[in-house]
Amino acid sequence: MIDGRSPLETARASLAPPPFPMDRTCPYHPPTQYRSLRDQGPLVPVTLHDGRIVWLVIGHAEVRALFADRRLSSNQQNPDFPVPTAREEEVLREVHAPLIGDDPPEHNVIRRKLIPASSLRATARLRPTIQRIVDEHLDRMVTGRPPVDLVTAFTLPVSSVVICELLGVPVDDQTEFTERSARLIRGPERSDVTTAWHALAEYLDALVAKKEAVPGNAVLDELIATELHEGAMSRRDLITLAMLLLVAGHETTSNMIALSTLTLLEHRDQLARFTTDEAAVPGAVEELLRFLSIADWNPRVATADIEIGGRLIRRGDGVFLSNTAANRDPVAFANPDVLDVCRSARQHVAFGFGIHQCLGQNLARAEIEIALSTLFARLPALRLAATVDSLTLHDGGGIQGVEELPVTW
Ligand code: HEM
Repeated sequence: MIDGRSPLETARASLAPPPFPMDRTCPYHPPTQYRSLRDQGPLVPVTLHDGRIVWLVIGHAEVRALFADRRLSSNQQNPDFPVPTAREEEVLREVHAPLIGDDPPEHNVIRRKLIPASSLRATARLRPTIQRIVDEHLDRMVTGRPPVDLVTAFTLPVSSVVICELLGVPVDDQTEFTERSARLIRGPERSDVTTAWHALAEYLDALVAKKEAVPGNAVLDELIATELHEGAMSRRDLITLAMLLLVAGHETTSNMIALSTLTLLEHRDQLARFTTDEAAVPGAVEELLRFLSIADWNPRVATADIEIGGRLIRRGDGVFLSNTAANRDPVAFANPDVLDVCRSARQHVAFGFGIHQCLGQNLARAEIEIALSTLFARLPALRLAATVDSLTLHDGGGIQGVEELPVTW
């Protein structure tokens, strides 16, 4: 502290810290500014859209420690919770997000209910279904004339159909919800987020009503039976949770498969290792998760003072835990900016860490492994049909990825 002021107050009084979030300029590398921020230490002040100064945590050890620190809260309805972009302001403040926006003990109660469906064993049972869905989409794609957009022809529908089957959402409705979900996550205007949120909520409300009349045996049916009918969860919370699973379950995986394809095509030596050694595929997927870190950061609010990394986070401060920066920390990973599918990348934080660590990680790993291995085995001559520079990237405020990925074979 300087003159009794906290570091954030000092930062506010001196030079304005850089704006946050920052955009990527290369689809598979973090924003270029992250590199120079590292000189300032593991926690750096940054400025949000509303002028508020918050902490961006970029050191691997500090990100892991803070993910596990109960003094940081995920409660989006806390008035001090940092809103990453102006577009999210209304929905974030208005809506209680069960699970991801809950702290213990409420968080544990819901999470425990979802663990059986997301376990390794449950995912292993799903693998043949994922393989079938991948095969069907590739069969369809190769009947078309290249170039094709891999996102619309393959990565998005595969991820959507998988999550539909898991949750018990009719596959025929996928276009309806993928469009709304893209608008929710990437629509540039505030009204896009609110309109898409309400449209998705309406759709899921009608689906829950149908399932109440004719129950099935998928995850959503179980939640209706155990949570809604036993009074443990309100209808509104159940719908928001279903929305989280639906949106998180296909947006992330689709972007990850598309970016992984692009990255391997741009790193031919690594692609050769990936395709020649089947046993190396799971390890290679871990490295791709580390290298690409598509869920760039996780917002939190401090509920007490925390001293870490030579800084003092004050109660009420906003904090963003950057998985991307942590996964490129040279203290944790040698030559972090080099893609090396043979390295051990297991300690990456691409799925977060601690109590909110991604519930869909087993499913995501299975989908990425099966999609990439099958794609490169079926189309060994696969290549980009556009330059990397010409690809349109998602902005820094959401899940990282490319709008389209034109490929030929
Ligand atoms: C490559 C794919 C994925 C990535 C990189 C990813 C990343 C993440 C991250 C970083 C978090 C932690 C958020 C936080 O701490 O605030 C998280 C949480 C979560 N993810 Fe994923 N995710 C992926 C796929 C999935 C899939 C396929 C599903 C659904 C089936 C899913 C469902 C969830 C849920 C429900 C949470 C909240 C868990 C909790 O709060 O306890 N994710 N994910």
